[in-house]
Amino acid sequence: MASFISRLGGRIVAKSATKQRLFIQQQVRWCAVAAGSTEHTLSVQKRIEKTRAAAVLGGGQRRIDNQHKKGKLTARERVHLLCDPGSFVEYDMFLEHNCTDFGMDHEKYPGDSVVTGRGRVNGRLVFIFSQDFTVFGGSLSGAHAKKVCKIMDQAMLVGAPVIGLNDSGGARIQEGVESLAGYADIFQRNVMASGVIPQISLIMGPCAGGAVYSPALTDFTFMVKDTSYLFITGPDVVKSVTNEDVTQEELGGAKTHTTTSGVAHKAFENDVDALIELRDFINFLPQSNLDAAPVRVCEDPWDRLVPGLDTVVPLETTAAYDIKDVVNGIVDEREFFEIMPNYAKNIIIGFARMNGRTVGIVGNQPKVAAGCLDINASVKGARFVRFCDCFNIPIITFVDVPGFLPGTHQEYGGIIRHGAKLLFAYAEATVPKITVITRKAYGGAYDVMSSKHLRGDVNYAWPTAEVAVMGAKGAVSIIFRGKDNQHDHEEEYIEKFANPFPAAVRGFVDDIIEPNMTRKRICQDLDVLASKKLKNPWKKHANIPL
Ligand code: HXC
Repeated sequence: MASFISRLGGRIVAKSATKQRLFIQQQVRWCAVAAGSTEHTLSVQKRIEKTRAAAVLGGGQRRIDNQHKKGKLTARERVHLLCDPGSFVEYDMFLEHNCTDFGMDHEKYPGDSVVTGRGRVNGRLVFIFSQDFTVFGGSLSGAHAKKVCKIMDQAMLVGAPVIGLNDSGGARIQEGVESLAGYADIFQRNVMASGVIPQISLIMGPCAGGAVYSPALTDFTFMVKDTSYLFITGPDVVKSVTNEDVTQEELGGAKTHTTTSGVAHKAFENDVDALIELRDFINFLPQSNLDAAPVRVCEDPWDRLVPGLDTVVPLETTAAYDIKDVVNGIVDEREFFEIMPNYAKNIIIGFARMNGRTVGIVGNQPKVAAGCLDINASVKGARFVRFCDCFNIPIITFVDVPGFLPGTHQEYGGIIRHGAKLLFAYAEATVPKITVITRKAYGGAYDVMSSKHLRGDVNYAWPTAEVAVMGAKGAVSIIFRGKDNQHDHEEEYIEKFANPFPAAVRGFVDDIIEPNMTRKRICQDLDVLASKKLKNPWKKHANIPL
């Protein structure tokens, strides 16, 4: 063969006449196939383009217009606003539902009712699903669920956050159990991903029925004011079961969930505002539990003194002040991303940076209910501490707490069980923990709020700190019950305990620092603690009081 066939530029050339004839016949046949295949390729190309164009249009222009009329962006507009320009890579644009009941085989939209893919936010990889309300009201079909599961699986494989933009009428009614199965497939993944990659839900339209449990399983649930709502059953079912009259907004709007139920962590004015804030928010978080959070170049000097803090705590021990003045003064560029700002306001939580590093901030708020710990504050704080611990974010705790809130309402509601959550969260956390007692640290709440005894790495007291079992008045009324000259004993108690020394002489605080030094000291400590290594004993999982 090698004698009469030689290879020229990849083509085979026959040398003898017979062989040449055969060769030409063969070439003609190949050309015919090639011509056919060009036609075929063109038609495939056309089909690809047509399908992509159809997918981009979702449920069609009329429904897109309706979406806009409601003040909402479309699923794709949202994704493009969230991602860095040109970075979004869409998956499964061709995937369709496979339901044939109720005439569904004649109504198919490429990509079905969700846009999925990956993109970059400030250069960092994220996986996104964005439910498309213009296609069957964004309802969840088997195909929709499959698409969501695919990006969740990829996010877990490579270690990157998942962001869900929710706008859906719930289970695809025409698909029945197929849809319920799809939800459960997503729930299972939410749970497996919990503590491994950050999961964020932004509710931008309806989210009702069992569908609410996916956002509820994620780390943060944000909402858009006026256009989004979350509830297990809508107003009509509520009316028929409990005879209550309630509007959609009252039942599950952003205000309800950010102030009353604590289901949502923050609400934003509109879609654009929400997506821009989300871009900022994601910058605080690491890609996964194996990574550190990104460090931002810090233009705020790490050793900046904050003289305003020296007078922030009022002389009168029961007078209120705003703990956010303390936080804002200490963190980089006064930038504090508060989480749940309108729920359980007696404790504040949120993210900030210290010398460019992400930190989680927890602080009792003396301005609200004297900063006492109650059920809601304990649960709010506990979940946040656990998030920080999952994702390697150091926790800075500001303590000014008169104790747990007394009363039947709290006891019947289970303050013991709920308060234990915060205690548990701090005690199991192995990330760097820095504590600053600004004023009161009374009773059990002293122990709970990241005390030395719960493995606090660095515990400071300001000169205004009072570490005691309780306030002077209450203490004296118990110790000296029925005795006169209670006032003198009160003075004695204050003298003995209303200062930082009893804790400092026992080493329960590491130092008494001037408030103005706090930023500098914490930045130094975070540097030292960056290499902290602490592991809890092996266990399948802990049994946190629920
Ligand atoms: C299929 C749905 C749908 C659904 C809405 N659509 N919800 N299609 N399955 N669940 C379709 C509508 O037929 C309509 O199609 C389009 O989406 C827009 O809906 P509208 O009603 O016109 O919009 P709007 O007035 O804004 O009302 C939105 C809505 C309402 C409040 C979400 O559509 C609604 O109540 N839908 C049903 C909600 C529901 O009961 N879902 C099941 C919950 S139980 P056209 O063709 O007109 O555009 C559940 C269980 C999950 O989810 C369990 C998980 C474990």
